[in-house]
Amino acid sequence: MSQQKLEQNVNGIHMQVSIAGEGPPLLLVHGFPLSHRMWQAQIAHFQQQYTVIAPDLRGFGGSDVTVGTVSMKQHAEDLKELLAQLEVDEPVNFCGLSMGGYIAWEFWRHFPEKLKTLILCDTRSDADTEEGVSNRLKMVDLVLRHGPEAIASAMIPNLLSKTSRDLYPEIAQDLIAEIEAADPEGIAASQRGMAERDDFLDVLDQIQIPALLIVGSDDVLTPPDIMQEMAARLPEASCREIPRVGHMAPLEAAEEVNQAMEEFLAVAR
Ligand code: MLT
Repeated sequence: MSQQKLEQNVNGIHMQVSIAGEGPPLLLVHGFPLSHRMWQAQIAHFQQQYTVIAPDLRGFGGSDVTVGTVSMKQHAEDLKELLAQLEVDEPVNFCGLSMGGYIAWEFWRHFPEKLKTLILCDTRSDADTEEGVSNRLKMVDLVLRHGPEAIASAMIPNLLSKTSRDLYPEIAQDLIAEIEAADPEGIAASQRGMAERDDFLDVLDQIQIPALLIVGSDDVLTPPDIMQEMAARLPEASCREIPRVGHMAPLEAAEEVNQAMEEFLAVAR
């Protein structure tokens, strides 16, 4: 089976989306500052049984950039409109990594009828601390002055575990290339959006949807204890910890992640 790349007019921008396979919809929402390319292993695997929809979010990959701030709510509205354009009427299995998870919370808040299940990889539900906000704004400044090259290599130890860096240097190289190719204004806009995102920790108990949480044991950005706490608060969730991988579990341990997702989706189907 092959992947199709489509361009859709979504809320005033051109949004690029990769579609593959047939079956119930599986929406894959990438992390920051990446694109749908981070999901290649999941697209290849799940297109056997699902319609896999992997967009480039506003500001990233092949999608148009908006200058300023792109809120998590805006990203969620783009996804809802994209699904409408693609005539996906049934509720989706929404899989988001990190920023993709922040967007999932907004998608749940505004479009709960469009959600069948949640798969949340290496993410969190609380808002930023003051220090977190200030670090994000420093990154915005750096990227707008010096380009994404100024941040790409420095991000790798936060994205990949030491084991992955040692064993699979090509994953780090690919990520660096992807970040360096990203648009500075696109990075800045979503970074500002994340800085002002809402806190969902206290409403997790209202999310009555089957949920699978996946986290790398060595994730330093959204560590296992944070995800376990989220799983305990979500009414229908379990948490799977993948050993020796970091923040990019679906890339670093594709087979294990695919298996965990497949088992979860088979029960929820
Ligand atoms: C991501 O992977 O999307 C980022 O780590 C999210 C963030 O910066 O909070």
